[in-house]
Amino acid sequence: MQINIDNIFKSGAITEEDYKKSGNKIPEFLEKIEARDQGFYQIFEDEDFRVEVDKIKIFAASVEGKYDDIVVCGIGGSALGTITLRDSLMPLFSIPKVRLHVMENIDPDPLAEIVETLDFSRTLFVVISKSGGTPEPIAEYFYFRDLVNEKGLRATDHFVFVTGPNGFLHEEAVRNDFPIFGVPENVGGRFSVLTAVGLLPAALIGINIDDLLEGGRQMSDAFLNNNFDQNLPFQIAALQFLSQKPQNVLMPYATKLRTFAAWFAQLLAESTGKDGKGLTPIPALGVTDQHSQFQLFSDGPNDKLIIFIEVEKFKQNPAIPVLVPHAKTDFLKGVDFTTLLHAEMAGSAQALTEKKKPNFTITIDEISAENLGALFVLFEGATAFLGEFMDLNAFDQPGVERSKVLTREYLGKKL
Ligand code: PA5
Repeated sequence: MQINIDNIFKSGAITEEDYKKSGNKIPEFLEKIEARDQGFYQIFEDEDFRVEVDKIKIFAASVEGKYDDIVVCGIGGSALGTITLRDSLMPLFSIPKVRLHVMENIDPDPLAEIVETLDFSRTLFVVISKSGGTPEPIAEYFYFRDLVNEKGLRATDHFVFVTGPNGFLHEEAVRNDFPIFGVPENVGGRFSVLTAVGLLPAALIGINIDDLLEGGRQMSDAFLNNNFDQNLPFQIAALQFLSQKPQNVLMPYATKLRTFAAWFAQLLAESTGKDGKGLTPIPALGVTDQHSQFQLFSDGPNDKLIIFIEVEKFKQNPAIPVLVPHAKTDFLKGVDFTTLLHAEMAGSAQALTEKKKPNFTITIDEISAENLGALFVLFEGATAFLGEFMDLNAFDQPGVERSKVLTREYLGKKL
């Protein structure tokens, strides 16, 4: 993985000197992050965590062939990483052997619709909630559990929980003898994709979770490196902070990474939006958004940092057969889809730079489990550093907690 930041300097948003100088802060920031007792970068070396990963692999192997549909009930940090893993690493259009559905919302139509499509006798419900007390997954659990009961199926064959030790869902799992996978106490929801939260659903649909973890481990080493040139997460955070733009666009040029940008949006918004401060994330997709949001990025207010993600090589790369030779289609002669995609990205980056809109590019060689693991920890680490740059606690979410309390009040119920 590499980053190309030439356009940041050309746009005039940051000087190379300030950027390099910021590296002095790495040791101080790492100390502060350590004092916040966060485990997202420590799990890779943790013995208990390795045991949990083995448990996940054993469970996934033991149920292979038993289910056609996996239904995840979870929201926020307990859903977005799983959606990203599925969309990035599984085929987008062909029907897979095991389908993974993430019920991340509670509007009744999709819930009723999915029930129509499921063969409950071949469905596993994975209920995910770190706190074990979030209204949405609890309500969904009751809904699906009732239907499982109604169909006369044995609930233990159809439910598995990923949850912390102190909430209602943990009690419920114990009461019913459901398999339980834990979430390390010191890994927050939006930082938890590389725990059982994302790893269990991933393993159930055949994603190689060792590769994911290997990518994450390598990036966590970079995160802990005091050498500025080696610390990619710190470099990203420095660019996000020093450019002083209140909005951050994440624009991967790969359809399979569309939901990675949605995962990033939660991470940035929930981590930095506090104390009257915050960076507003804007998820985008190249090239699609060149014909949608890009006009605003290019000619609108200069209040955005645009982060591109480029994929060097795709699994397939058909040539574009120029079926109608014409002066106006000649530019496509001898061109394949990857080359066209790259040219469009280069054009967009240059167009932004000409308008003094800061942008930089992260390049990965391919979309793989290892690169995904690394990308997750890259942005998690960057967000942790960004919290220190912005002098706020990136790891809490008081606004979210408040809305959970008020939901109960609106229903006329006590906590
Ligand atoms: O990042 C966070 O902590 C939140 O977005 C949570 O992931 C979200 O509120 C869901 O919480 P839980 O997993 O406890 O159900």
